[in-house]
Amino acid sequence: TGAVTVGAFAELLGLTPAQVIQTLIGMGVMAAINQEIDASVAAQVAEKFGFTVKIQEPEPELAKKVAATEDDPARLKPRWPVVTVLGHVDHGKTSLLDRIRKTRVTAQEAGGITQHIGASVVEVDDKKIVFLDTPGHEAFTALRARGAQVTDIAVLVVAADDGVMPQTVEAINHARAAGVPIVVAITKVDKPEANPDRVRQQLVEFNLVPEEWGGDTVMVEVSAHTGQGIQELLEMILLVAELQELKANPDRPAMGTVIEAKLDRGRGPVATVLVQTGTLRVGDAFVCGTTYGRVRALFDDRGRQVEEAGPSTPVEVLGASEVPEAGDRLEVVADEREAREIAERRREERRQEEMRAARGLTLEQFSQQA
Ligand code: GTP
Ligand code: MG
Repeated sequence: TGAVTVGAFAELLGLTPAQVIQTLIGMGVMAAINQEIDASVAAQVAEKFGFTVKIQEPEPELAKKVAATEDDPARLKPRWPVVTVLGHVDHGKTSLLDRIRKTRVTAQEAGGITQHIGASVVEVDDKKIVFLDTPGHEAFTALRARGAQVTDIAVLVVAADDGVMPQTVEAINHARAAGVPIVVAITKVDKPEANPDRVRQQLVEFNLVPEEWGGDTVMVEVSAHTGQGIQELLEMILLVAELQELKANPDRPAMGTVIEAKLDRGRGPVATVLVQTGTLRVGDAFVCGTTYGRVRALFDDRGRQVEEAGPSTPVEVLGASEVPEAGDRLEVVADEREAREIAERRREERRQEEMRAARGLTLEQFSQQA
């Protein structure tokens, strides 16, 4: 699989980069000419232009391993939903997440300080919901542009005093492109000028029809300031998740996606990884994009050191040799030697792609001048 830059890909198909970028936007993926898109995304674009695509698998040994264990339905166990919050600027995404987190924190560890790791696990009764703290658009564009699908449900935040705005519409399109169900949180209902019914009417124009009007979209009125509707919103998210029957196999080498990554002075490269299948353990050798390593330590969403992390669990991973990129996939392999080999091969492939892209660009400039 691997990735390809938009420019190089356009060149390959004999299209202009603008044509490719436009098609990507239509799919809800924002990418510039020098940005990389994943092979599966590239394939979808190519198909729109009438090409048939065969994606080459550069790591057959890895793919074989995955196929051998992943598709055995008997091994699948339920997993918690992963939720992204989307919405127009200033409509209250961060406040809503904070409120949800605070509800959890005060219930469980009054006064406790939650360490920020880019994702939080919220407990509702005996169930859990994983919220990605990364601004929704990033989770849907940067990550999706790299072919990573990390979200099961999108919570669309619409301020009751402001109504549907341009980025609300963008958010709806992103969620639809990703094929995930939308739960609407009509927020700021504590405000005197709030008009939740107007929001419902506006959303109907985008084919989001509230359940109470005979449609199938869950809409909950909430306030991050008073806490109204928060519990109901969480319960509705769980209900929608139940319909999805989300499952994964915890008993296999882990695979996950990097949500965010940074270089920490004391701890070295630190990656927040959402484990999507399998169980990640301290000591596991892994390859992650073009970097690799061995898991030196794992920390959960509250900064507690843990020994392992199963499906739908966000963890901070220490032990990568370099800082990976958001959207990179982490895969556990047999040993560090194999991890290094795969990472080096990917690096070499990327170098060659960049060289091809550079050559393509030079040719283009040349013919324009001629
Ligand atoms: P960006 O990240 O900039 O896109 O904004 P956001 O969507 O995260 O909005 P944020 O949570 O920062 O809230 C924007 C403003 O709305 C802040 O001044 C909040 O205090 C206010 N606000 C958010 N939720 C509520 C609410 O439920 N009621 C009231 N009255 N105000 C709210
Ligand atoms: Mg915010």
